[in-house]
Amino acid sequence: MTAVRTLWRGGHLVTLASPQGWGLVPEGALVTEGDAIRWVGPLSELPPSMRDGLSAEHDLAGALVTPGLIDPHTHLVYGGERSAEFELRLQGATYEEIARAGGGIRSTVAATRAADEISLRHSALARARALMNEGLTTLEVKSGYGLSLEDEARCLRVARSLSDLGLTVRTTYLAAHALPPEFDGRTDDYVDAVCAWMPQLQQQGLIDAVDAFCERIAFSPAQTRRVFETARRLGLPVKLHAEQLSDQGGAALASEFQALSCDHLEYLSDSGIQAMADAGTVAVLLPGAFYFLRETKLPPVAALRAAGVPIALATDHNPGSSPGLSLLLMMNMACTFFRMTPEEALRGLTVNAARALGLPDRGQLVAGQRADFCVWDAGHPRELAYYFGRNPRRATVLQGRQHEA
Ligand code: NIG
Ligand code: FE
Repeated sequence: MTAVRTLWRGGHLVTLASPQGWGLVPEGALVTEGDAIRWVGPLSELPPSMRDGLSAEHDLAGALVTPGLIDPHTHLVYGGERSAEFELRLQGATYEEIARAGGGIRSTVAATRAADEISLRHSALARARALMNEGLTTLEVKSGYGLSLEDEARCLRVARSLSDLGLTVRTTYLAAHALPPEFDGRTDDYVDAVCAWMPQLQQQGLIDAVDAFCERIAFSPAQTRRVFETARRLGLPVKLHAEQLSDQGGAALASEFQALSCDHLEYLSDSGIQAMADAGTVAVLLPGAFYFLRETKLPPVAALRAAGVPIALATDHNPGSSPGLSLLLMMNMACTFFRMTPEEALRGLTVNAARALGLPDRGQLVAGQRADFCVWDAGHPRELAYYFGRNPRRATVLQGRQHEA
């Protein structure tokens, strides 16, 4: 059986094919075959053989075409919401104080445990649809609000079921997110449990990567190391919530384990940057959390850039530090807050986001990659980072097929 071959012509392509530059192809054409891109280039150079056996042809009518957007860091599955905590923070309480007083992540753990699988799926589907409305094609979802074997499994199952929407879902095991109340005063015992559950959940096909929250209010570097050692024994790649509120040396530790990514990084040191550069670890910056926690310490973007560390962006969607669901707003904030360029912002949600998930088959418009792309009403790709509160998405193509949103 031969795969369906489709020609997409008349679009201005943003290929991101080289390490630098937009890779613009005005009046471009894309040929997809099944779920893959077969040919990309100017329509005037389309080889006649590419028209053989065409089953469909689409006129993109001068629209802009980019790789599909990838959100490489979310906590999308949870019960409840934390607007009361938002009010407390506006009155002066800090995120750390609320967490230490038993609120924060723990309050979402209680709400998540109390929710059934159907309602967790219902709320997560609505969030995933909102992200897809702005061009999401690949989504990472972390566990970390269950914190028991059963509740973590339930959340990971719900996360994986979001692929019913047609997008790719990668699930990350983040049981080392907070200490559940039944383990009060026994953090090391809880880390033992986190490690013991890992092979069981892996056998159920629920884990693509392992993450931890290495922070004063969460897990120490030594405890994080134990989680990572277990992951390594099981052949699972690691990621880390590192240097969000303080410098714990988490990035250097994660780099020892060739982490796919270190995320947040406001307090990242020069030696942490060097370790990430040496390990090829991606920096995932989270402007939504920076904004919503009213942080003032900026992640070291210029130093990351100078060291050649690839920079990705993500929503970090979660009820405590980043309740937003707009990838386009993340691009805008990355430019305004972090002084990233619009091109870096788009790379951050495409090719570098793919790398942060260990998915080399996507993120650029080049032959051989997966045919996930977005069609926008825009004249230039920098417009995607320029507007906020305006969604220029015209269509999304997932695995070579136009997605009916
Ligand atoms: O990425 N930093 C830890 N985890 C989340 C916040 C989780 C929460 O507050 O519920 C984050 O910001
Ligand atoms: Fe996070």
